[in-house]
Amino acid sequence: MVNPSIRISDLPIYSPGKPIEELQRELGIQKVVKLASNENPLGPSKKVTERIRSIADQVSLYPDGDCFYLKKQISIHENVLPNELLIGNGSNEILELIAHAYLDKDDEAIMGEYCFIVYPIVATLSRATIVRSEMPEMTHDLDDILNKITNRTKIIFLANPNNPTGTKVSTEKLKNFFERVPARILIVIDEAYHQYMNPEDRLVSSEEIRGHPNLVLLKTFSKAYGLAGLRIGYGVANKTIIDFLNRPREPFNVNSLAQAAAIEALADQEHVTNSVELNRKGMIYLKSELNKISIKTYPSYANFLLLEFKSEGRIIYEELLKKGVITRPLENYGLKNYLRVTIGTVEENEIFIKSLRGSI
Ligand SMILES: Cc1ncc(COP(=O)(O)O)c(C=O)c1O
Repeated sequence: MVNPSIRISDLPIYSPGKPIEELQRELGIQKVVKLASNENPLGPSKKVTERIRSIADQVSLYPDGDCFYLKKQISIHENVLPNELLIGNGSNEILELIAHAYLDKDDEAIMGEYCFIVYPIVATLSRATIVRSEMPEMTHDLDDILNKITNRTKIIFLANPNNPTGTKVSTEKLKNFFERVPARILIVIDEAYHQYMNPEDRLVSSEEIRGHPNLVLLKTFSKAYGLAGLRIGYGVANKTIIDFLNRPREPFNVNSLAQAAAIEALADQEHVTNSVELNRKGMIYLKSELNKISIKTYPSYANFLLLEFKSEGRIIYEELLKKGVITRPLENYGLKNYLRVTIGTVEENEIFIKSLRGSI
């Protein structure tokens, strides 16, 4: 056997789960409810699907490697300059580029004890040391992050709202935190779920990146815009950071269908509003039903809920799977007695509750 590098054997394994069609075949059922990956249950905007169909025959051409038109639209949307933007093959790719561009062997990267699994992956690949900050009540503790800063700290990764916990920190606390982090440290705020928060809880990208030359804000088209399968997200930061992130980027990292779809998705903010509203109602329904069966949930400001059980989450996950409901067990996040469930459509939420009642 050829041994992989030590970095690779150390990596946590991300298990994406079975394809829906495979589960349907195995269980012999038609209806599978997937509430595992925080996708938009409404799907993409109709304008997006129309646009994709209309340009399907152009896929023989390489995409625009600079994402010129998309950057133009995002720059209007975010009130920043195109050269303050980087488009990625999902925001995951931007996380990778950040680690490539900024993390070296002797550096430390601080991240929450229950943080998005890609942060430890990219930090490990760059041979950096991972430093975990505490998360009392599943929420980032900014003071603890500040206490964990050393002269080796290079990056702080923080998702707001956080995945897999759903919790948030207030803009007031974040702004105060930005002032206290030394300027030699890159702060990465991952806002994959920001549309699901109230407007007053969201950072204004243009203001923050102008005031903080060490800040990167990440956004994605995978969640509220419903484009997860196309893989597209973006980073907002000052021009110097964007220049560095562009260096390890592959020339055609974002495909042409994704670029065109993202332009349409941005233009259809009504679809985002409808998606957020469906999520808001679904969240209220699920919390109230879970409360009736005494399952603890945590406050969530995203499109999913963290459920705490008295026993192993994986056993309940397996039971739900037999009923055709896919959720996310979290032992690889260090959360053994938990499940994460995405808020679905009204029907999907009802099926989930009914199946859960029969599984605990
Ligand atoms: C916190 C967080 N950041 C980033 C992503 C990945 O987004 P993308 O699909 O744009 O790579 C996710 C997806 O689950 C996420 O939860």
